[in-house]
Amino acid sequence: MKTGSMILALCSLTLGLATVSPGQTRITVQVDQPGAAIRPTMWGVFFEDINFGADGGLYAELVKNRSFEFPDNIMGWSRILRSGSEGYIYIERYPQEQTNAHFLRMKVGKTGQGFGVSNGGFRGMGIQEGKEYRFSVQARLTDGGPMALRIQLAGQGRRPLAEAKLEGFTSQWQKLTVVVRAGGTDARARLNLLVEGSGTLDLDMVSLFPVDTWKGREDGLRADLVQMLADMKPGFLRFPGGCIVEGRTLDERYQWKTTIGDPADRTLIVNRWNTEFNHRLTPDYYQSFGVGFYEYFLLSKDLGAEPMPILNCGMACQFNTGELAPMDELGPYVQDALDLIEFANGPADRGWGRKRAEMGHPEPFGLKLLGIGNEQWGPQYIERYKVIAKAIQDKYPDIQLIAATGSDATIFPNGPQEIEYLWSQFRQLKADIVDEHFYRRPDWFLDNAHLYDDYPRDGSEVFVGEYGAQSIGVASPDNRNNWHTALAEAAFMTGLERNADLVTMSCYAPLFCHVDGWQWRPDLIWFDNLRVFGTPNYYVQKLFSLNRGDRVLPVAVAEPATAPNGKPRFYASSVYDEKSNEMILKVVNATGEPVRAIIQTKGAKAVGLQANVTVLASDDLNDENSFETPRKIAPVESKVPLRSAEFRYDFRPYSMTIVRLMCQSR
Ligand code: AHR
Repeated sequence: MKTGSMILALCSLTLGLATVSPGQTRITVQVDQPGAAIRPTMWGVFFEDINFGADGGLYAELVKNRSFEFPDNIMGWSRILRSGSEGYIYIERYPQEQTNAHFLRMKVGKTGQGFGVSNGGFRGMGIQEGKEYRFSVQARLTDGGPMALRIQLAGQGRRPLAEAKLEGFTSQWQKLTVVVRAGGTDARARLNLLVEGSGTLDLDMVSLFPVDTWKGREDGLRADLVQMLADMKPGFLRFPGGCIVEGRTLDERYQWKTTIGDPADRTLIVNRWNTEFNHRLTPDYYQSFGVGFYEYFLLSKDLGAEPMPILNCGMACQFNTGELAPMDELGPYVQDALDLIEFANGPADRGWGRKRAEMGHPEPFGLKLLGIGNEQWGPQYIERYKVIAKAIQDKYPDIQLIAATGSDATIFPNGPQEIEYLWSQFRQLKADIVDEHFYRRPDWFLDNAHLYDDYPRDGSEVFVGEYGAQSIGVASPDNRNNWHTALAEAAFMTGLERNADLVTMSCYAPLFCHVDGWQWRPDLIWFDNLRVFGTPNYYVQKLFSLNRGDRVLPVAVAEPATAPNGKPRFYASSVYDEKSNEMILKVVNATGEPVRAIIQTKGAKAVGLQANVTVLASDDLNDENSFETPRKIAPVESKVPLRSAEFRYDFRPYSMTIVRLMCQSR
């Protein structure tokens, strides 16, 4: 950096300070008093398979119920029986016990105009003109033949998009693969498998993936969705939930060991979000675990994010059955935690580390953070937490454990008292990190930017592990990802940043949402089968993350602007970036009026000749992004020349502004 030519020397800075007129404010950043270090984990993401987040979303598989293991084994599939054809289809079981127990049998007499099966994907399949798709199937011929399979991708109205033929079926199960190139685009295409010849053909693991996946990994993740995460540069990836960790019952809990290894052998279970909300029933929502723990670790690595798995603690979701594993039967839960640490960090030549290596990653994933339970409460949680935590701490003292504090005080039974009880217990236990969740109205976030200012500093760090402003009410189907909610979250986040000595990690929830397959809104990133867009809330998260900095700087706002009810609605926080030598100031003006501020950098020896300013704003709090206008609310960058280290800046109504200024402290 050529500081000599780019900076203003500040020997005369203290002379002639601009005075603050009525209606103005002064923001003073104390550049020479860096405070708490901001952890690289400060701003992260939380992934849960909700709203078709994994199956139907991040996992690029286009076929729903590809292995016929849904409890209604034929769900997602329909028979094609065109004129002149004769035949039937049914589900068979393998004679031997195995995870993937079922397959499809097609007995065909005459094919006529067409006989076969069709799969409609996850509210259709997204097929794009010019792109390649890899079809694969496990198949065998058990009777008659020769037979062939015509693979057709069909758009709406049976519009042909791509076609190929598979032949060479034998009496042995074998995997056959063919790649097709799409001649058209359709977000709601179908996969048709049409039989040629007569006889009996058995099919299993019927799969269709785009060839272009994230990092080109075969049978991998949707590249456009992962890119949205990569663009955020998240500090950590919390996974896999959320409530799906707990399950409605313990049988339906998330068990990481059944989510690794050959995808065909992973045990499918119900997705507990499928019928959670009567207003958004999704009875065809299951977890195939095509994205399992190995993929989550790999994704964390790709994103440069710390992996943060959350494990079941012997309790099913307390909003559902609240089923408890008896205290003398906690062994498997403890073992799961210990084995997971080995899977992530253990040597590649033995035990669980070898399984990781066999899956393609001999190097350890470097797991440092582990959550015990999601939203639990009551003494039952504390008892179980103690047992599991002790076993981990005895063997792996370097792993930092995350304890849960139930959920938002407004939605969980006896909220405030429960949370107080949990906190008192965790303080006694000297818990490393305590996870808090907030799903509240926007005004709560605006009113609580100072929530953490007075929290005790007694050892336990805070992880704000789930939050999101609910425009109507918790998980209301009418909630919107509008600018009001995003701005309120931005105000709250200035408080997290100012308190980075205590709040060391945070993330919004939920992350992804399929526009035709959601259960919970609001959500950070919306997608359909072909497209994706970031909400205003996404851009708020992204801007905080990209402007994380390394140390908190003290900021004072003189006479912050207020709402008509007198509550402060003007917020600021600041950090120092040691690599670029920049002061980064984040300001949220949540009033409907412009605010003129005098910005003063105190204790600076020299500052740059221009500030890089990024503004996220809209005059209408109801504004939203959409597929049609994905960047209606998106960051706008500019450079502002400076003549003095103390300068005026007009903050737009309803705006979040980031000012980056090269700044050397004395
Ligand atoms: O983010 C959606 C859900 O909200 C999470 O699964 C759960 O932890 C919380 O109640």
